[in-house]
Amino acid sequence: MIEKEAIRNRIIKLRDQLTTFNYQYYVLSSPTISDYEFDNLLKELETLEKENPEFDDSLSPTKRVGSDIISSFNQYQHKYPMLSLGNTYSKEELTDFFDRVEKGAGLKPNYVCELKFDGVAISLTYEKGRLVRAVTRGDGNVGDDVTENVKTINSIPLVLMGSGYPDFFEIRGEIVMPFESFENINKDRVEQGQEPFANSRNAASGSVKMLNPKEVAKRKLDCFLYYIQGDNMSFNSHYQNMEAARRWGFKIPDSMVIADSPDKVFDFIEYWDKNRDTLPYAIDGVVLKVDDYLVQQELGFTAKNPRWAISYKFKADQAKTKLLSIDYQVGRTGAITPVANLEPVLLAGTTVRRASLHNADQIELHDIRINDYVFVEKGGEIIPKIVGVDTTLRAEDSPKTDYITSCPECGTLLIREDGEAKHFCPNTKTCPPQIVGRIVHFISRKAMNIDGLGEETVDLLYKKNLILDITDLYRLKAEDIAVLEGLGEKSANAIIDGVLESKNIPFERVLFALGIRFVGETVAKKLARSVGDIWKLRLMNIEQLIEIDEIGVKIAQSIVDYFADDYNNRLVDDLIAFGLNFESSEDDVSRSEILKGLTFVITGTFEKFSREEIKEMIEKNGGKNSSSISKKTSYLIAGKNVGPAKMDKVVKLEVKILSEDEFLQLID
Ligand code: IVH
Repeated sequence: MIEKEAIRNRIIKLRDQLTTFNYQYYVLSSPTISDYEFDNLLKELETLEKENPEFDDSLSPTKRVGSDIISSFNQYQHKYPMLSLGNTYSKEELTDFFDRVEKGAGLKPNYVCELKFDGVAISLTYEKGRLVRAVTRGDGNVGDDVTENVKTINSIPLVLMGSGYPDFFEIRGEIVMPFESFENINKDRVEQGQEPFANSRNAASGSVKMLNPKEVAKRKLDCFLYYIQGDNMSFNSHYQNMEAARRWGFKIPDSMVIADSPDKVFDFIEYWDKNRDTLPYAIDGVVLKVDDYLVQQELGFTAKNPRWAISYKFKADQAKTKLLSIDYQVGRTGAITPVANLEPVLLAGTTVRRASLHNADQIELHDIRINDYVFVEKGGEIIPKIVGVDTTLRAEDSPKTDYITSCPECGTLLIREDGEAKHFCPNTKTCPPQIVGRIVHFISRKAMNIDGLGEETVDLLYKKNLILDITDLYRLKAEDIAVLEGLGEKSANAIIDGVLESKNIPFERVLFALGIRFVGETVAKKLARSVGDIWKLRLMNIEQLIEIDEIGVKIAQSIVDYFADDYNNRLVDDLIAFGLNFESSEDDVSRSEILKGLTFVITGTFEKFSREEIKEMIEKNGGKNSSSISKKTSYLIAGKNVGPAKMDKVVKLEVKILSEDEFLQLID
């Protein structure tokens, strides 16, 4: 009994600690422990919870990884309807708003100035300090219960910290996807043959509505809170209640300020209109709220909006410039992307020279013609886009843009498959950018990681007829490379060494490197680990392939098509003959990333393993070895007989020490 009590106490302590560490990391952005230490505590908690199911808690920090797949979302009626805000783009209308407020309230109130986050609105309900529900806005009255997905967002507290919160309250905010995650997700989507999200708002709202919480957990969403309603709020001031909510663990934006006059509000607007590009996530304006609840009550609501708040939207940064010409780029898969060359123009602090035109439909839609004056805009997107044409400036005889019908690089007639937005050049074998693109993909860091070779060198080697496909990399001779302009003996040797080393790259990465359409990094890993080798994979049909977890018809079809082609089979045979890995080893399967980002120094003598063996284990688990102790050292693995000089340095730099056994536990 006493033991059970001790376990319960340990579980509670771990949950508390993890909640605090999580808050420091995700809300305050100032972690106090390493990821490794965090993971260790989490693992300890996981084990204790598994062994003692009577102490389980659906809001334990272990539950952030995402629950099982949901079949559909339950509908939930909001206790307080989720109203939207009146909005304006003009400073005059804003002055009208201030006048209305002052007249209605009979005084000059303080305004809380906030950013208008461009994501998806969420309402979170807490009872006795615990998250009980997260509901989307829906139609304002009824929304989707997305609690399981929201639990995966690390900056949202599952259990509150501190004290003084009402027994029941609802807090509202915006779930956003920071630009960094947005770009990574879009890159992955393109790699897997999916349409990229148009902007981070769509990406955030798409993510919140996914039926697999484990996938949502990977989306790296964030959440800012901006409105609270509850039974007995402590203050009559919106600002003070938000500050209190910050102390309970919510991410209340640091940008929130209180302004005691309309002039101060205009200063806030001006500052953020200029500086919004510095934020790591999208905003599309500011929101202004009367601070005092009593004044808010006095003003009340219209049918749709509160009279005490308004949003002022920034105009999307736009510029007008001349379209000089259209380039058609051919990607490694043969997809054609039209790109506009513009007369250079300043837009949101950067000079814009090019803008993507996406595809033929886009050009058609806006009837974009060469020599037109076009409007370029930088919205939530990173790459500027053309949003329209100033037709008043168009010459009368200006011809309509005829989309190209043949490949600009090899002349082959383009095709456009049903349901595809893009045109493709079907000449995969001899179209130069497709060949070079495939080689560049093959050597890239996540594929064969061939050091010493970059896009420019590949281009040069191709132009000199030294590499005409990926197999030629393994036929290169140092003396042929050394004579090329800008290369020399040293670079030539580095290239040859890199090529030779790539023969050790595991099968899953070789498979990714082949560049089979829709077989991205994750799919390649999955295939390599479940099928085992290329010989089996080559013989599989669509039915067998779709049996594999996460492999759908589109991917399966693409694999079957790839191996139905003689050219590809010859290429693979050549690579087999050159000694590349086409079989998963036990080793690949046991590889892990648990030591990713950690640097180790090994010292002394060990009992169970040799130093070399320990070094190898570190690498196999994604860690790095280093020979000397520095600020960057994460751990010193100390055996027996550690020299005093090393120990001194360890103490001085506060490097943590692991024994051999502790290290083994860590990678277990
Ligand atoms: S306050 C009753 N504050 O903009 C007031 N909304 O049309 C409730 N939004 O649906 C909203 N940033 O999704 C508020 N700082 C902020 C906001 C904000 C973004 C969104 C929210 C709302 C819409 C208003």
